[in-house]
Amino acid sequence: MKIGVFDSGLGGLVITRAFRETLPEYDYVYYGDTARLPYGEKTSGQILSYTIEAIKYLIEQNCGLIIIACNTATSITLRYLQQRFIPTFAPDIKVLGVVIPTVEEAAIGKTSRVGVLATNATVRSHIYQAELQKINPALEVFEVAAPELVPDIESDNFAAAEAAAGEYIHAFDNIDSLILGCTHYPLLKTTFRRLVSERVRVISQDELMGAKLHDYLRRHIEIDITLSRGGSLRVLVSRLNDRYRQVAGRLFPGIDIEEKP
Ligand code: DGL
Repeated sequence: MKIGVFDSGLGGLVITRAFRETLPEYDYVYYGDTARLPYGEKTSGQILSYTIEAIKYLIEQNCGLIIIACNTATSITLRYLQQRFIPTFAPDIKVLGVVIPTVEEAAIGKTSRVGVLATNATVRSHIYQAELQKINPALEVFEVAAPELVPDIESDNFAAAEAAAGEYIHAFDNIDSLILGCTHYPLLKTTFRRLVSERVRVISQDELMGAKLHDYLRRHIEIDITLSRGGSLRVLVSRLNDRYRQVAGRLFPGIDIEEKP
């Protein structure tokens, strides 16, 4: 069995790279639903049906452990998938998301005012606020939607993305931690670190997910022993174009990117 990584587009490749840096021996299959990005602007019903389709596809590709790298899909679907869909459809498969590991990381240390930047759908779900306050009910959480960032990053317009980031950051007042709650934002982490004061800890998922997966596999030997170790990576997308080839090639030089049939 392989490790599947799902994202609405190519942003999750940054997380996949982090997994492979920490755990290079496993076999990975990445699936990006590039034809239907951005999920952050879709209805919850659409996000659920697209994510179920993606999970089924990754199971067909022989994935036994699937990580939803997309914050939007995690926010809207993970609870349903883990509690309803997977137990009946594929009880041997494990599906994990990115919100809980991020929240655990954010709650470490001294923090009292946490900012969360994410897509519209993630903010609408209030999952970050709910999960952070489960760990520490006294935390003040400020969730802000940043709908301009994904399209700017997707179109390689980093000047516009940086300008938009500068505007969004004004929405946070006196925070001590900032969660970058979207697959695409690690690509702007240097910008965010420059924009906020030195007192603010910027939490970027590419810097924590490798260690979190490592820890999960160590605690779940029964899953770990089912995973093959060939060090391979397949990258599949629902729509392929030159731009996606270029982005994937930048992150994984020489990678062959395939379109889902
Ligand atoms: N992958 C999404 C997320 O992490 C961002 C892109 C999208 O809106 O589809 O929330």
